[in-house]
Amino acid sequence: MNDFQYKKNQLYGEKVSLSEIAEAVGTPFYLYSAAALRRHITAYKKAFSSVPHLIAYAMKANANLSVLHLLGKEGAGADIVSVGELYRVLKAGISPEKIVFAGVGKTKDEMRQALRAGILLFNVESEQELIALDEAAKSCGKKASVALRVNPDVDPKTHPYISTGLKKSKFGVAHVHALSLYKLAGRLSHINVAGVHSHIGSQLTQVKPFVDAIRKMGELIQFLRKDGLDIRYWNIGGGLGVQYDQESPPLPSDLAKNILPILKASGCTIIMEPGRSIVANAGILVTRVIYTKATETKKFVVVDAGMNDLIRPSLYEAYHQILPVVKKKRPDHVVDVVGPICESGDFLAQDRTMPEVMPDELLAVMSAGAYGFTMASNYNARPRVPELMVDGDRYAIIRERETHKDLVRGEKIPAFL
Ligand code: LLP
Repeated sequence: MNDFQYKKNQLYGEKVSLSEIAEAVGTPFYLYSAAALRRHITAYKKAFSSVPHLIAYAMKANANLSVLHLLGKEGAGADIVSVGELYRVLKAGISPEKIVFAGVGKTKDEMRQALRAGILLFNVESEQELIALDEAAKSCGKKASVALRVNPDVDPKTHPYISTGLKKSKFGVAHVHALSLYKLAGRLSHINVAGVHSHIGSQLTQVKPFVDAIRKMGELIQFLRKDGLDIRYWNIGGGLGVQYDQESPPLPSDLAKNILPILKASGCTIIMEPGRSIVANAGILVTRVIYTKATETKKFVVVDAGMNDLIRPSLYEAYHQILPVVKKKRPDHVVDVVGPICESGDFLAQDRTMPEVMPDELLAVMSAGAYGFTMASNYNARPRVPELMVDGDRYAIIRERETHKDLVRGEKIPAFL
């Protein structure tokens, strides 16, 4: 099902026409569908209903307070990677005992803040971090519950920048070192060994790497238990892909079907950290054509959204479908859709076959709900664009468009200048 569909040649977000929204709020803007978010989280809940579980939504994908609030109401927790994310997620109303904290570079100060908030688990990624966490916990009179992030060394067969479970990756601890590190964890006075964690990569389009990783982690759990460690939580990470173009990634139910027997046998509470598969196809970026131009070799469509608004095409050569907001009978052209930023890498699509467009017309960049706004910047002194949510026939601005004042907030010219 798609929540962004044409009705009489007009593209809608649920029951609201995108042209109407563009008229009201200007362009560019991000728009998220509440129905899509609810459906995507429900698919996980249903798929894993036969095991005790926590869906710790990976909020790096989209950290808007309203998105978090909606998912929280559906029962989701959160996977955080900074205390900035902790601040956001608590503000959105998600309770600390549903929060897991990942990342290779947590500082002791961050650890203390998370401990004081009372989060569920730290996903620890190195020996030094484990020792730092023990010290941080001691200094604030708490015990830190820990899952070690273990690198199962399986190839997720995705883009190298978003593969994280390979031997050469900076993430996690090597599978061969896991046992000794767990033994150390068991000896530390302010660490409570509670689980295992792995995350092998993002935009996974096959089930097999997942299953391989789960098998390896299942064996590890058995080893650890033989060693007397009380493993109660099994965090299987995130990474399920979405359809951007022609790919047909597994659904949560396909994944569950393949791994539930192993998960059930463990008796663990299963934690999962989906990000993209919850939000990517629940969001779009709407932009307006400023000019069209042709050089000797290429045709360009210059739009008002750039790589600072959506960096995925520039950074990963990611494909995002681009649709006209008002469908017209026009011949197909091969164009580059580019932004106004002073960089050759500023494109939303390259060599794309699409119907000819004219200045002032609106385009929708699809599947932009994940790693869109959260990776946006102010490059070229461009205020970040507003975020909106549609729910049936209602819509609201859930984050205002930034102003020029926002751009210089906090800057000071010192007296010695
Ligand atoms: N858990 C951990 C520990 C992660 O590092 C990530 C993503 C996730 C969960 C969520 O993965 P997902 O379900 O979203 O695939 N900016 C890139 C993606 C970076 C992913 C980073 N880690 C992109 O735009 O494709």
